[in-house]
Amino acid sequence: MAVDTLSAENLYVADAQGRFGGEFGGRFVPETIIPALDELTEAYAKAKADPAFQEEFAYYCKDYVGRPTPLFFAEKMTRELGGAQIYLKREDLAHTGAHKINNALGQILLAKRMNKPRIIAETGAGQHGVATATACALFGYECEVYMGEEDVERQKLNVIRMNLLGAKVIPVSSGTRTLKDALNEAMRDWVTNVRNTHYIIGTVAGPHPYPTMVRDFQSIIGIESRQQIQEETGGLPDVVVACIGGGSNAMGIFYPFVHDAGVRLIGVEAAGHGLHTEHHAATLTAGSKGVLHGSASYVLQDTHGQVRSTHSISAGLDYPGVGPEHAHFKEQGRAEYVSVTDEEALDAFQWVAKSEGIIPALESSHAFAHVRKLAPTLPKEQKLIVCLSGRGDKDVDQVARRLGLL
Ligand SMILES: Cc1ncc(COP(=O)(O)O)c(C=O)c1O
Repeated sequence: MAVDTLSAENLYVADAQGRFGGEFGGRFVPETIIPALDELTEAYAKAKADPAFQEEFAYYCKDYVGRPTPLFFAEKMTRELGGAQIYLKREDLAHTGAHKINNALGQILLAKRMNKPRIIAETGAGQHGVATATACALFGYECEVYMGEEDVERQKLNVIRMNLLGAKVIPVSSGTRTLKDALNEAMRDWVTNVRNTHYIIGTVAGPHPYPTMVRDFQSIIGIESRQQIQEETGGLPDVVVACIGGGSNAMGIFYPFVHDAGVRLIGVEAAGHGLHTEHHAATLTAGSKGVLHGSASYVLQDTHGQVRSTHSISAGLDYPGVGPEHAHFKEQGRAEYVSVTDEEALDAFQWVAKSEGIIPALESSHAFAHVRKLAPTLPKEQKLIVCLSGRGDKDVDQVARRLGLL
């Protein structure tokens, strides 16, 4: 499988320093991890060019993850909204229940090549932690996962899953006790143990080469979607919608459409209690240019450059940063970025369950909340793909409490 089917000289590829549009990305890290990042960059470039690596990745995607995931025509939802035809890219049907497994497998295969026996990761919703713990179990690797205490509380099911898979979950009590703090701790661990440790970052953020590498592994979502919609309808979609935490499921589905000017790409961020409050995580919509976790991008920060605390009902979107490539897409006007509130996402969660018999992750429910508003405004002949990034089992307990059912 060709992970990167797009030409090297195009506008949307990072330069040698890992900068998108010369401005976003790069490496803002302590000197001690520069050699590790260089080693990783080289190992990844070699692997990417090696058909044996591509075949190995394709094999595990197919026979272990269950790819390709289906592209499902949501007939009932389409009829109800009365506008564009809605297709669901079913990443919830990938092994472990979310898109995160694509990247975890790609990176573990790389760690194997680099002979790094210890794996660390950070997780918010727990899906990346579960995916990493799964890949480590499969290949017999030691695995430690950093997770904010608040996320440990709201994503209990995933903590149990990681433990069952043999991983050690390390609760992080600093800061807001969410994803950004877990990332800080994982970075700190990596700086100390860089010789024998590979850090599997779970999204298209972090220092170069992570944003490019994670995007490549996740591009399988868009490559499949492109082929599937063409086979089914004979043409490309008019709109592609995905939720944005760090931005990996969105970039994965967007990237293979980047040169199709007629395809609108829409990323949906978490507006939490509303953009007029301090309690949201809408980085591209309401943030400003800054540096977080090793790369330049958009960041939610105050006037002194201090990273602001965020809020989202969904742990996987509760992050004050975003991948640098999305910042570039925003500047170029190649993608649109919007946001929806907790309440809208919660409504969409219930709506998708009743409408299609699919319980979506709270993260993905943000994308659906926007689709619910957008689809009725579009002509009936238009086709819209929404990335159903993961299943909502992990969120049932939290939603039930919110709805007073527990
Ligand atoms: C199901 C699901 N969707 C989306 C996300 C957000 O991450 P990203 O923006 O990197 O896809 C997460 C993060 O944990 C997730 O678990």
